[in-house]
Amino acid sequence: MHAQSTAFANIALVKYWGKRDIPLNLPATGSLSLTLAPLRTETEVRFEPDLTADTLELDGSLASPRATARVSAFVDLFRQRAGIDTHAHVRSHNHFPTAAGLASSASAFAALAVAVDAALDTGLSTPTLSALARQGSGSAARSLYGGFAEMLPGQREDGTDAYAVPLHDAEHWPLHVVIALADKGKKEIGSTEGMEHTRLTSPYHQPWIDSVEPDLRDARAAIEARDIEVLAQVAERSAMRMHASAMAADPAILYWKPTTLAVVRAVRTWRAAGLGAFFSIDAGPNVKVFCEADDVETVRTRIEELPGVRGTITCRAGGPAHVTPTETPT
Ligand code: DP6
Repeated sequence: MHAQSTAFANIALVKYWGKRDIPLNLPATGSLSLTLAPLRTETEVRFEPDLTADTLELDGSLASPRATARVSAFVDLFRQRAGIDTHAHVRSHNHFPTAAGLASSASAFAALAVAVDAALDTGLSTPTLSALARQGSGSAARSLYGGFAEMLPGQREDGTDAYAVPLHDAEHWPLHVVIALADKGKKEIGSTEGMEHTRLTSPYHQPWIDSVEPDLRDARAAIEARDIEVLAQVAERSAMRMHASAMAADPAILYWKPTTLAVVRAVRTWRAAGLGAFFSIDAGPNVKVFCEADDVETVRTRIEELPGVRGTITCRAGGPAHVTPTETPT
């Protein structure tokens, strides 16, 4: 009834931005990502018969009722399967550099799924855990795997075929990602809300959705061939089109800051001059710059020289979510 786990964050090369069902959190399209070390969440779950409610401790402090309710609803999915109603203590720690403004829901729900499964000894398959993680956060479904993973949107109404699958492990192509930290400031709008607002109000929503399948096909081929030029084209157009669809919402969703654009422009210039680097941007102002191991120092140095950049975080392709040894006997 007690287990610990670790899961890494991931960054989408082909973006997920739209749902086909909200209650089950089913994505409208597939997506494709790279799991990233060392950005990770460590989670400990302890089911205790005496508890009258679930508790959540996040980074050493008691979490808000809202965050606790979200975790509790997630643990319910496992309790229903196991046919139990025992409550749990959940302790979670995000090893993300503070003030980086990086999303942690992907690693958080992947780690939680793995820890709850181990604590209850439900022995669920990885695709089933991935489908469950998806219900916590869509991007979390991909963090079950190391290296490159693809989210399948599925077709069934119950969402049992909407889970991620592994494409290649990190060793296949150990890409690095230098995260350029752009201007601080309050996040414009969270991804869940942002993608729904885009669906409801952006005339570019459907064209964006239609563009994802060809991008997935091209990204798979580029990764298989370790072709950074082709992957650069696909990943940049996926990020640009996702943001274009959001910018065309009414009112517009604009995640970019001046520094975001400065990094995007610089990366394009460097690549035109022969450097194997390309960018992606999530629901925030930071820019993620992908490159191969040999170029990582050059990329980091150049990014840090750009005006407005507050710092960088260097990541590398990471491994799968996994159970970690517990300190006390179970
Ligand atoms: C821009 O997975 O955070 O990072 O399913 O509503 O929790 P919910 O959304 P979330 O969205 C991620 C959006 C993105 C692109 C991506 O990771 O594919």
